[in-house]
Amino acid sequence: MPDTINMKRVFSGIQPSGDLHLGNYVGALKGWVNQQNNRDNFFCIVDLHALTVKQNPDELRDRTLQTAALYIACGIDPIKSCVFIQSHVSVHAEVCWLLNCITPLGWLERMTQYKDKSLRTDSILAGLLDYPVLMAADIIIYDAHEVPVGEDQKQHVELARDIAQRFNRIYGETFVVPEPVISKTGARVMGLNDATIKMSKEHSKIRGHAVRLLDDPKEIERSFKRAVTDSYNEIRFSDDTERAGVNNLLGIYKVITGKTESQVEKDFENLKGYGSLKTIVAEVVIEELRPIQEKYARIMNDSGELHRILLDGGEKAAEISESKLSEVKYKMGLLNL
Ligand code: AMP
Ligand code: TRP
Repeated sequence: MPDTINMKRVFSGIQPSGDLHLGNYVGALKGWVNQQNNRDNFFCIVDLHALTVKQNPDELRDRTLQTAALYIACGIDPIKSCVFIQSHVSVHAEVCWLLNCITPLGWLERMTQYKDKSLRTDSILAGLLDYPVLMAADIIIYDAHEVPVGEDQKQHVELARDIAQRFNRIYGETFVVPEPVISKTGARVMGLNDATIKMSKEHSKIRGHAVRLLDDPKEIERSFKRAVTDSYNEIRFSDDTERAGVNNLLGIYKVITGKTESQVEKDFENLKGYGSLKTIVAEVVIEELRPIQEKYARIMNDSGELHRILLDGGEKAAEISESKLSEVKYKMGLLNL
């Protein structure tokens, strides 16, 4: 185990609510992997959050394990990072309740993700509204300094800051106030079929919307071939919404290759037509995902090893968070005999 005493602590998570896609990879996982050597990392599979929308129980269990395998296949090293399943550490749900009792309802009703999601359903569950409080609990019970997430989660991390600050004001200094860390590149990968909406698990069953991390090369090629573009026939970055499709393709190429915008535009300088752009972007994505898919297959072949990693991770996470829980309960006036 690395010496983590002087390192900043990182906490992040992904819901096992659907197939992981390129947005999850570049917006979250890739950044986690790049940082993991000089941080004290906690990477969680947030299955309790997945319950805020209807799930098939057997599928949820399968996807929870698959998500964990993908973390490791993408390069999360269980020696350097604590990998665990949220529902294995009951402190998360318990602290969520305690934080509910200091969180004004208005703060939750203002969350844009809640407003969007509740507009699209006619039976709004209490869990959907409360989702950011559970997320705040996830983060602050570990005293995490940094939370690397995609742009869409920034507002939730800011709420976690507000809740930590409010608790500290009422009960005295208790929690570290966390910072969102949004990668400049890849903060928002858009749908290939519609570049005005973000690539999401929710839409990943729609043909041509997402590149799923486990899609085979042929499927990835097909998705890119079908990607929306425009009629400008000009391969350069742009903020113009009409050109969002091409911009998204260039953004994906940029984040995978690690090149700058001008290097990317140079690469495509003499290229004629969007067809070749799509082929080249598909190729870099296929090559990036190939070793991940191979490693994933090896991990799933030996699930005993994966179970051991998750059990060890859960144990370590429980130990750390339980001592924080005792402090919080005491400060809030709960009797300890
Ligand atoms: P979710 O799929 O909502 O569980 O998100 C897991 C992580 O992936 C979070 O850090 C999100 O911000 C990030 N993420 C999800 N979709 C995208 C996207 N289209 N582009 C960039 N990051 C994303
Ligand atoms: N809400 C996040 C998402 O949908 C997932 C999540 C839950 C999370 N708890 C977290 C992310 C704590 C970072 C830190 O993407």
